[in-house]
Amino acid sequence: MYFSKLIATGACVPKTVISNQKLSELVDTSDEWISSRTGIRNRHFAQTENASDLAIGTARQILSRCQIAPEDIDLIIVATVSGDYTTPSVACLVQAAIGAKNALAFDISAACSGFIFGLSVADKYIRAGIYKNALIIGSELLSKYLNFNDRSTCVLFGDGSGGAMVVRSDEPGLLCEALGSDGERGLSLTCGHVPTSSPFNGLPRGTDPYVHMDGRVIFDFATRTVPKSVEEMLEKQGVGIEDIDLVVPHQANSRIVEIISRKLKIPMEKFYLNMHEYANTSSASIPIALNELVENGRITPGMTVLFCGFGAGLTWGNMLIRM
Ligand code: COA
Repeated sequence: MYFSKLIATGACVPKTVISNQKLSELVDTSDEWISSRTGIRNRHFAQTENASDLAIGTARQILSRCQIAPEDIDLIIVATVSGDYTTPSVACLVQAAIGAKNALAFDISAACSGFIFGLSVADKYIRAGIYKNALIIGSELLSKYLNFNDRSTCVLFGDGSGGAMVVRSDEPGLLCEALGSDGERGLSLTCGHVPTSSPFNGLPRGTDPYVHMDGRVIFDFATRTVPKSVEEMLEKQGVGIEDIDLVVPHQANSRIVEIISRKLKIPMEKFYLNMHEYANTSSASIPIALNELVENGRITPGMTVLFCGFGAGLTWGNMLIRM
């Protein structure tokens, strides 16, 4: 029987940091409004890099931290909703850049749950005995989709990338998961609409690149669906709250995380927050946080870590990991 285990992490974010104060010079907002409602203080915005550059930076860091050669990678999954092109995928651009010539590479679109969806797909390939070494990356360049005339969305997001190497193992590493989707509420958070048009239907050509969001619908979804899904998952697996060492939630909003903490009765001290530095980086937020925890020694081998992803789609992805 095969299991999958996470053996190395990495991250790459643009150097340029934009503070709430700096944003307030552009739109009618304030540090006080943004930080009190979301916990966000800074975000990193790309100057020239695209989503693939950040993903490649993450891939190279992960490779430098494990004993796996690029040609031994079987699978590359990049979770992204803001890739450089519609095609080729960011995963194929990463494959070429790192020389992973034997890998199958593709992107998945599950927004802020994307990294967890990617881990889940990789886990199935590994458990089925098909692949041994999988590189999973979340990479987003959301700044290119933000409308800087819309203060209700442009203050919330940032650019970044993070990821992990997941390999075949004799011991369980990815312990259990609860993933889901609710397409009925999908249009409450959209990004990058390309309408139908051709020379034969007379419809005008044009795109609406921007993020549009009904913040209250998303807030309500995240604070109801995530705790319920986690509770069901832990109960099914027979895992108690006390067995969880750390929680790495999607870094959308500290108030959402506080409600999740209260509902799950897991103290806030066990939740890792870094949205004050990066804002919401969608699929990259969980792996960036995970990488920080590994780098600063707060996550060590043997620890049990809960990931809680949620976002557009709508989608959610919760997973319990033994490091
Ligand atoms: N700066 C200052 N004022 C702002 C603002 C900003 N950046 N954005 C909105 N406002 C104003 C609104 O115009 C509104 O003013 P009005 O009452 O005069 O109309 C007021 O602030 C309150 O807006 P409201 O939308 O009720 O605020 P809220 O308390 O619901 O908080 C969010 C808004 C977006 C922070 C909150 O809904 C949220 O976090 N939702 C989840 C979003 C999310 O995480 N999405 C990604 C999930 S992956």
